[in-house]
Amino acid sequence: MEKKELLYEGKAKKVYTTEDPDVLIVSYKDDATAFNGLKKGTIVGKGAVNNRMTNFIFKKLEAKGVPTHLVEELNDRETVVKKVEIIPLEVIIRNYSAGSFAKKMGMEEGIKFACPTLEFSYKNDDLGDPFINSYYALALELATQDEIDKITEYAFKVNEVLKEYFDRLNIDLIDFKIEFGRYHNQVILADEISPDTCRLWDKDTHEKLDKDRFRRDLGGVEDAYEEVFRRLGIR
Ligand code: TMP
Repeated sequence: MEKKELLYEGKAKKVYTTEDPDVLIVSYKDDATAFNGLKKGTIVGKGAVNNRMTNFIFKKLEAKGVPTHLVEELNDRETVVKKVEIIPLEVIIRNYSAGSFAKKMGMEEGIKFACPTLEFSYKNDDLGDPFINSYYALALELATQDEIDKITEYAFKVNEVLKEYFDRLNIDLIDFKIEFGRYHNQVILADEISPDTCRLWDKDTHEKLDKDRFRRDLGGVEDAYEEVFRRLGIR
């Protein structure tokens, strides 16, 4: 499978067309941004970690009944994926207080919830991805009720699978963001699952092993990505 034309360049990935109209090639970059692109930098090796980690996790999710866009990993940074129409919702699941939740609720970070939360943001860079609920999504026709039901079911399933998996790596899954797409009338998991899109804390030390190290200038950014990679056993 060969790349043809650059279809889209996002903050962390490039997407290319191929000779097959049904599939695309995603190429992961080392570029990192935060705060809606205001902060820019490079995390050396991130593209390869995120590509291989996403594919590794997506295969596990497929085996547990969550359909994904994964077709085939081509190399360290590039993967063939099904061409979906992205549903413009960022789906966030939280198991512990952190980030925008902790700020909004006036709580310290790291408090375990009685049960996981699910929230939606409207994927719109100009508006800074505002928090919305399912009524907004329906009213603005961002998704149908059936799609929202499927997204909710899959998102909690992803949480269960990932929580259990990271548990064995001595990592607490604090929260994460996922995105879904439409593919031949089906809702499937798309985009990525990586230290860019999850909060991952070491269970013993509570050390942050994710992009918060970049967002908050904590140092050791590359080492954190490598450490997650190492614990997953992909390296
Ligand atoms: P938040 O606490 O800043 O709302 O972030 C919740 C989760 O979503 C966290 O794991 C980081 C992830 N996330 C993204 O993947 N992309 C984003 O643009 C933002 C703001 C958060």
